[in-house]
Amino acid sequence: MTTALTTSPAAPGVETPDGAYAVRLAHVHKTFGRPGTAAPVLDDISLDVAPGEFVTLLGASGCGKSTLLNLVAGLDRPTAGTIEVPGARPALMFQDHALFPWLTAGRNIELALRLAGVPKAERRAEAERLLELVRLGGAYRKRVHELSGGMRQRVALARSLAQGSNVLLMDEPFAALDAITRDVLHDEITRIWSERKLTVLFVTHNVREAVRLAQRVVLLSSRPGRIAKEWRIDLPQPRRIESAGVADLSIEITEHLRGEIRRHVQQS
Ligand SMILES: Nc1ncnc2c1ncn2[C@@H]1O[C@H](COP(=O)(O)OP(=O)(O)O)[C@@H](O)[C@H]1O
Ligand SMILES: [Mg+2]
Repeated sequence: MTTALTTSPAAPGVETPDGAYAVRLAHVHKTFGRPGTAAPVLDDISLDVAPGEFVTLLGASGCGKSTLLNLVAGLDRPTAGTIEVPGARPALMFQDHALFPWLTAGRNIELALRLAGVPKAERRAEAERLLELVRLGGAYRKRVHELSGGMRQRVALARSLAQGSNVLLMDEPFAALDAITRDVLHDEITRIWSERKLTVLFVTHNVREAVRLAQRVVLLSSRPGRIAKEWRIDLPQPRRIESAGVADLSIEITEHLRGEIRRHVQQS
């Protein structure tokens, strides 16, 4: 999928060593409303995500994270700049599970499989496999109201994977969960990312979550959203959210995030 409005040369300094990318944003700008009448939400974002990479986009509320993810998902178009996602259309997972309450967990997944073109005869077995993958084997017949918040997000994750893309876009998917459930789901997404060799672009305002999960943390500034700084995270996986390595880096990144928020408050 390629979204091209104005063509820009490839951004300098964003090449991966072998030039391969699963997602490429080059000089992306986004303004809502008529150009010139509103302040830009995103300003000159250039970012490559390598195949198989796990990147978290971190920023204060309202800085344009969801806007950016929606652009990558193809739900909206940039005002200027280009976005390239060479593989299948990426799957998008939100904080709200958005499951159909009148369908069972299994049927919700089968619907996504149908939309992805999986033949009818294979859907049931594939839905069962995906439920096993998110450790919900046996939940095929459960309805949404019978599932806890964490289980619903597991079904939502299985449904995202059913879309058959290797690129998974996650918009604060665990933000509404309690800390312990969130911690367990961090382990699960790390395991599934590595087993399935997914490319993940994960949005959060939670610094510890960003460091716990990612190989790279990209900090966005506020109004307009620009890339303020990046950190490569070499701590071994699986990580613990309370480990010293995660805590130390979180303190450093939080200082930068605070700086961004202070700068924003002073300007507004
Ligand atoms: N469809 C839209 N129309 C107008 N303004 C929008 C629209 N979507 C988002 N915005 C504005 O863009 C800014 C960034 O929003 P958003 O991307 O949701 O931030 P975040 O996800 O980082 O909290 C906010 O000021 C928001 O009000
Ligand atoms: Mg958001």
